[in-house]
Amino acid sequence: MDLFEYQARDLFEKYGVPVLQGLTADTPEEAEAAAAKIGGTVVVKAQVKVGGRGKAGGVKVVHDPAAAKEAATKILGLDIKGHVVKRVMIAEGAKIAREFYFSVLLDRSNRTFLSLCSVEGGMEIEQLAEERPDALAKIAVDAVSGIDLDKALAIAKAGGFDDATAAKVAPVLVKLYDVFVKEDATLVEVNPLVETEDGQILALDGKVSLDDNAEFRHTDREEMERDEIDPLEAKAKAWDLNYVKLDGEVGIIGNGAGLVMSTLDVVAYAGEKHGGVRPANFLDIGGGASAEVMANGLDVILGDVQVKSVFVNVFGGITACDAVANGIVGALAKLGDSATKPLVVRLDGNNVVEGRRILAEANHPLVTVVATMDEAADKAAELANR
Ligand SMILES: Nc1ncnc2c1ncn2[C@@H]1O[C@H](COP(=O)(O)OP(=O)(O)OP(=O)(O)O)[C@@H](O)[C@H]1O
Ligand SMILES: [Mg+2]
Repeated sequence: MDLFEYQARDLFEKYGVPVLQGLTADTPEEAEAAAAKIGGTVVVKAQVKVGGRGKAGGVKVVHDPAAAKEAATKILGLDIKGHVVKRVMIAEGAKIAREFYFSVLLDRSNRTFLSLCSVEGGMEIEQLAEERPDALAKIAVDAVSGIDLDKALAIAKAGGFDDATAAKVAPVLVKLYDVFVKEDATLVEVNPLVETEDGQILALDGKVSLDDNAEFRHTDREEMERDEIDPLEAKAKAWDLNYVKLDGEVGIIGNGAGLVMSTLDVVAYAGEKHGGVRPANFLDIGGGASAEVMANGLDVILGDVQVKSVFVNVFGGITACDAVANGIVGALAKLGDSATKPLVVRLDGNNVVEGRRILAEANHPLVTVVATMDEAADKAAELANR
């Protein structure tokens, strides 16, 4: 789960990372009141989970509450790369002397943590990373030894800080690492980390991603504001289905995560010959899936308007093929006229003969039974491309 900036700010504060006051507002009037409460110069900041807010007009510095109200009027409702702003944060204004960059993240491919750091932070960091990659230090962080003060100093120096400034930012980096570990984050990024005119170090913008797999350790997170989840994913979740929506046209149902993963692969491969169609989702109905689960799965997938065909790929094990076949027939009966998309079914394994017999007998006009996985993928891709 990615956090909004204001949530990251609150988390930083909890760990003693120096931050400025920040209050959220959902209306221009609330923004005005928040600016009055903070007093002086404030920054009105769009709360959306996407980078480049400043450049998109989502960050405005103002000097009095009336101007904060006006800025909030402009920012609320703004579309930033497809994210509509529903909330702003009113942050105390800082007198910035220099902007730095720091992040720590999970480096999956190298099986370690990785810290990125540069004395040249701010809104042009992406450009810096591209044009002068050497100016952005990339330092591996061992998960056992972590970032202590010595390591933090080494990171800052690698990022181009002079000794005196490195000594000032290092304790903040240690605290940010504390956030990273204790909150089970996969990313903690501060851009900009600043030095103010009077020499203070402050985290002015934070991006934090939390590892959902660790949620059971953080029961306090239930209250957190979440993104609206995809209605199909919500429906699947209510039925306890392992469903992930993707962007393609071929709906996929299979039993067992490994089989479903390889089904995605064969469909993507087959799709290359059929207009570039792609898998529309991942859906694993599990090892011991019943007919009812099959019906629920079909219901979710057929509810996806992008789906043009469905590939049901089942290897009967604990769930015998006849149960799956009955599930398909039952689901289609239940859906009636609302089922309009072709289904390609490949069954194999436990009780396959009976399963195929049930489908043949039902003789549903939307169902095509295909013997092998590759042929079935090809057929499903072809149907999706019609
Ligand atoms: N509290 C603040 N006081 C003064 N200036 C600020 C403050 N917050 C941000 N700024 C200025 O605005 C710039 C952009 O802010 P911020 O980093 O929050 O947004 P962004 O980087 O455009 O957004 P994103 O991180 O989503 O790409 C900062 O680099 C900084 O110069
Ligand atoms: Mg930023």
